[in-house]
Amino acid sequence: MGDTIIFTLYLFLPAYAANMAPVFSKWLNILPGLAMPIDGSGEGKDGFLGSNKTYRGLITGLFAGVVVAEIQFLLSESGTFLGISTFLLRADSAAIWGLLLGAGALTGDLVKSFIKRKIGIKPGERWIPWDQLDMVVGGIIFGSAMYHFSWQSILILLIVSPILIVIVNILGYFLKIKENW
Ligand code: CTP
Ligand code: MG
Repeated sequence: MGDTIIFTLYLFLPAYAANMAPVFSKWLNILPGLAMPIDGSGEGKDGFLGSNKTYRGLITGLFAGVVVAEIQFLLSESGTFLGISTFLLRADSAAIWGLLLGAGALTGDLVKSFIKRKIGIKPGERWIPWDQLDMVVGGIIFGSAMYHFSWQSILILLIVSPILIVIVNILGYFLKIKENW
């Protein structure tokens, strides 16, 4: 079981990276030209996703997913974590894995924001547990195109991810990287 937890979380790492990248890109003001809301909202105008969902978040998120998967590929190539999963053993399949998990996590996040706006929750307002589970559900659905998640690994992701995400968000809040947790 301990093995399964480590394996599952390591496999899902590109999705966690994609989920965190938008927050860091805002903090560091990377690609300011892409910081506009996807739905055209802002300045008193409400959109279907809300002003916190930007192109910058999507681009940096996808990029982070691929970069982390490629680092995992390099680690497996150098013998560290060798054989932890077959597609991390190749540069091309690792990139596709990173892209898939990133796209899944970010899409899950967008769908969640869409539902939040529909039911009248303001951008940035908490909606537990879906603020934490969005990227897990999205990542698993998209990732399933390439990898068969066992029910054990799905359970691990659903239970462990929200805990990790809340801890990281609270840390980010106190370090003034994030405006709210
Ligand atoms: N972010 C972004 N683009 C995205 C997703 C996130 O720029 N596609 C940035 C925004 O600065 C956002 C922060 O990451 O405020 C945290 O994202 P998240 O917690 O998912 O969004 P919320 O601000 O809570 O908005 P919502 O209520 O829509 O979930
Ligand atoms: Mg949030």
